[in-house]
Amino acid sequence: MYYPRKINETIYYVGESDRRLDLFENMFELPQGVAYHSYLIKDEKTALLDGIDETVSERYYENVRAALDGRDLDYLIVHHVEPDHCSSLNNILREYPNCTMLLTKKGLDFMHQFYHLEYEDRVRVVGEGDTLDLGKHKLQFIMAPNVHWPEVMMSYDSTDKILFSADAFGSFGAIEGHLFADQVNFERDWLAEARRYYINIVGRHGASVMRVFKKIEDLDLKIKMICPLHGLIFRTREDIAMIMDKYQKWATYEPEEEGIVFVSASMYGNSQNLNDILAAMLADRNISNIRIYDVSKTPVSEIIADLFRFSHAVFTCLTYNTELYPGMDALLRELTMLNYANRKIAFLENQSWGGRALMIARDIFSKSKNLEEIAEPFKIKSSVAPEQLSDLEKFADQIAATFTK
Ligand SMILES: Cc1cc2nc3c(=O)[nH]c(=O)nc-3n(C[C@H](O)[C@H](O)[C@H](O)COP(=O)(O)O)c2cc1C
Ligand SMILES: [Fe+2]
Ligand SMILES: [Fe+2]
Repeated sequence: MYYPRKINETIYYVGESDRRLDLFENMFELPQGVAYHSYLIKDEKTALLDGIDETVSERYYENVRAALDGRDLDYLIVHHVEPDHCSSLNNILREYPNCTMLLTKKGLDFMHQFYHLEYEDRVRVVGEGDTLDLGKHKLQFIMAPNVHWPEVMMSYDSTDKILFSADAFGSFGAIEGHLFADQVNFERDWLAEARRYYINIVGRHGASVMRVFKKIEDLDLKIKMICPLHGLIFRTREDIAMIMDKYQKWATYEPEEEGIVFVSASMYGNSQNLNDILAAMLADRNISNIRIYDVSKTPVSEIIADLFRFSHAVFTCLTYNTELYPGMDALLRELTMLNYANRKIAFLENQSWGGRALMIARDIFSKSKNLEEIAEPFKIKSSVAPEQLSDLEKFADQIAATFTK
């Protein structure tokens, strides 16, 4: 059953939320679910903007039918060919035989690769600056390669001044009644999931995000609304400025605020004890924003999001079968893949009889940009020895000295 939802007089929201899926892309936890957005513009012509994931597609077909309310579908616009938006599209094309699909050249290749597209004769390939006239609404296509797939484009409705931004500005989290960021306490209730989404899914592609921002600036678009493919819609000047500001920081790999994230993997609790003591020492030195994670416990995507949020990090290199503990090894490699940079870091090392953990960690980070080691690694053998406490105090002093407040 579709309950009609409009984002303005002529544009319907026809997306759906999924609160059953455990892992997005079989990888990312979804404690608050996830939503896949799709919009239907009803003008002299009708246009459906993107599809949704197959997990909720049956409801979606109902939504589109109900929102069309007896009208035919003229256009299907595909901003991004990833399966969470496109696994439903062959069915849409089958149901609306007069509908033309618009997408990029690369997008068309991917439609063939992923879905063995059945309707190539109904495709219009579009590129930078191409437009689509729907009557009152005119859509302008803006190429956004590598945000975060190579075929991504955005579109700008110059009549209502809406940017349809594909996955950019999206967030994990199912819709809870409200569609707009100004209807909720976004910073309190949504920002963490928007950050976790951006950093983990798009994070590697900061330079491409910045290129699109530049393009948008050059085109002098007067954006009044941003409609992403997940998460909430931004429509107030303050919310648009707020999310743009966050994106600016994330895409340039600048920390949002001062703070320190400890990451360890501790099998018997001794490395954890070292983290706890050092964190307490930093708290006593008036450092705020301290987070302590065990990589074996907390979802890695959450740890990564906080590592991007804060300015400092301490990584415990625990030796495991002579190598770096596998979970930590994977975390550091994922961080470098996401271009983790511009942070102040320190290493702790725990080994009981020998190995290369610290060397491996340093080697993984060796290609990273501007990761400044602010103190020589602090080493323990199995557990913190009482006589090491004064040295640990000095280590804490060194870290605290690099905070501005
Ligand atoms: C399965 C296993 C393999 C380990 N392999 C090594 C090793 O190769 N070299 C080493 O110095 N310590 C090794 N350790 C010891 C750990 O590095 C660490 O010193 C010990 O687990 C104590 O720290 P924790 O209490 O934080 O787990 C190993 C521990 C386990 C459980
Ligand atoms: Fe995507
Ligand atoms: Fe997506």
